Amino acid sequence: MTRKILITSALPYANGAIHLGHLVEYIQTDIWARFQKSRGHECHYVCADDTHGTAIMLRAENEGITPEALIGRVHGEHLRDFSGFHIDFDNYYSTNSPENRTFAYEIYAKLKAKGKIVKKTKSQLYDPEKEMFLADRFVKGECPKCNAKEQYGDNCEVCGATYSPTELKNPVSIYSGATPVLRDTENLFFKLGDCTDFLKTWTNTPGKLQSEAANKMQEWLESGLNDWDISRHAPYFGFEIPDEPGKYFYVWLDAPVGYMSSHKNLCYRLGLDFDSYWHKDSSAELHHFIGKDILTFHSLFWPAILETADLRTPSAIHVHG
Ligand code: 2FM
Ligand code: ZN
Repeated sequence: MTRKILITSALPYANGAIHLGHLVEYIQTDIWARFQKSRGHECHYVCADDTHGTAIMLRAENEGITPEALIGRVHGEHLRDFSGFHIDFDNYYSTNSPENRTFAYEIYAKLKAKGKIVKKTKSQLYDPEKEMFLADRFVKGECPKCNAKEQYGDNCEVCGATYSPTELKNPVSIYSGATPVLRDTENLFFKLGDCTDFLKTWTNTPGKLQSEAANKMQEWLESGLNDWDISRHAPYFGFEIPDEPGKYFYVWLDAPVGYMSSHKNLCYRLGLDFDSYWHKDSSAELHHFIGKDILTFHSLFWPAILETADLRTPSAIHVHG
């Protein structure tokens, strides 16, 4: 029987070069895709640059160019390096594409219509010089537990403690060196907890995850799932959220949607039926290859979002170290 198989590797950020760590993934995925093609299956291997977020915005600013110019240049560099290593993508696209905007908006509209988006105000560190809110990794200070210096806002690399950035002692913004201040911000959250039963079933379906990944999922599910903050404030390079001026989708909301967009773009070029791969009861297979550090995004948020948006969920997540 001919199988329809869509294969992806994680989308590399468009703010730096492809390194050997990336190639560990692209080469193994490429081998698997070639193998499935050689067996005669209808098989496509797609990827894209992951182009949004603060890091890319600031990198462009440092280089004195627009984010669009930066991601355009890096796209060329990535393609050159992939072809140099004979990575044979059927399509290599970009998350800053019209298809990705359309899908991100459609998916968001669906989540909202189902009552799965809530607004909440939280207190967050703000850089008064740079005039922007600071993500956990963009604040450094002393560990609240062991006083080690130069620790990030989410965890201490010396004693292993995890904490919130507001607990750091003597915090500074890594951009300006300014002392951050606390400011209230209204953010949009996806009610991930409502998907707990679905995720329990999904995780325990044989073939979805390797046992190590399934065990890790079990830990997360047992400790309870929090609402997921899917918005970021301007200045931010990404897609502005409809009817929410000044708020943008967090890069991790529209990044996996990039798998769909790259595939959509391929289907358009080859005259293939995109919907037959992505509708809820599709018999086509969807295989994601990823590194273990991004397991949460692919095994919790992404299936939960697809399920809530009435789209198909992944057939399997292949996780490597
Ligand atoms: O961790 C990373 O490098 C991300 N750019 C991977 C994104 S994968 C997908 F979800 F888009
Ligand atoms: Zn510590």
